[in-house]
Amino acid sequence: MPITTCVFDAYGTLFDVAAAARQAASEPDFAYFEPVWPALAEHWRQKQLQYTWLRAVADAHDDFWTVTQQGLDWAMEKAGVGGDAVLRERLLALYWELQCYPEVPEMLVSLKQSGLQTAILSNGSLDMLSGAVDSAGIAAFLDDVLSVEDVGVFKPHARVYDLVGQRFGCAKEEVLFVSSNGWDAACATGYGFSTVWVNRAEEPMDRLPWTPSQVLADLTGIPALAGVS
Ligand code: LAC
Repeated sequence: MPITTCVFDAYGTLFDVAAAARQAASEPDFAYFEPVWPALAEHWRQKQLQYTWLRAVADAHDDFWTVTQQGLDWAMEKAGVGGDAVLRERLLALYWELQCYPEVPEMLVSLKQSGLQTAILSNGSLDMLSGAVDSAGIAAFLDDVLSVEDVGVFKPHARVYDLVGQRFGCAKEEVLFVSSNGWDAACATGYGFSTVWVNRAEEPMDRLPWTPSQVLADLTGIPALAGVS
């Protein structure tokens, strides 16, 4: 069945989540943060995701902004900058205006010009997502932004992936789901989507019952995989 709908994870896939810590570390006020920002960015992301999984399993949902702040607090303490309220405020502010990866606008334009439907499907709450979409200037190339807040549980719960069919009325086989999170792409394969894992960091494949349908190093190959000539 041909692909009719391309659906993208947001954080780490379209938007560079390390950009907040990288940017803060480059600012004169936070010169002391420069040596520790890469480790902090990695721990922040790991804890943020771990908390989403734990909250989903424990049936203790809260929104992604809360989880993002809690992950940051853990990572700041680990990095020895716990209690630095000014740095914390700056990092959180930057999370609302993340840069997208450079190939994103052209890739989305190519999909839209070929008549495909495009959307984000993310753990993010709609206000966070619209901040990032607006600052990246990609709103015009997306048909919709779908948030887990509509179902009150995080990925990879099937109720989240159900949002795509509910919104676009398409079959699972018509969906190309794209994520930089190996676990997200793998679980979406298990759900029934065609999937792409964007493995920028050349990470090992997650050991899960499913594997992504395709693996790419960045997003430039997405139109070809979606059947756009
Ligand atoms: C998201 C996270 C998982 O955007 O990256 O859903």
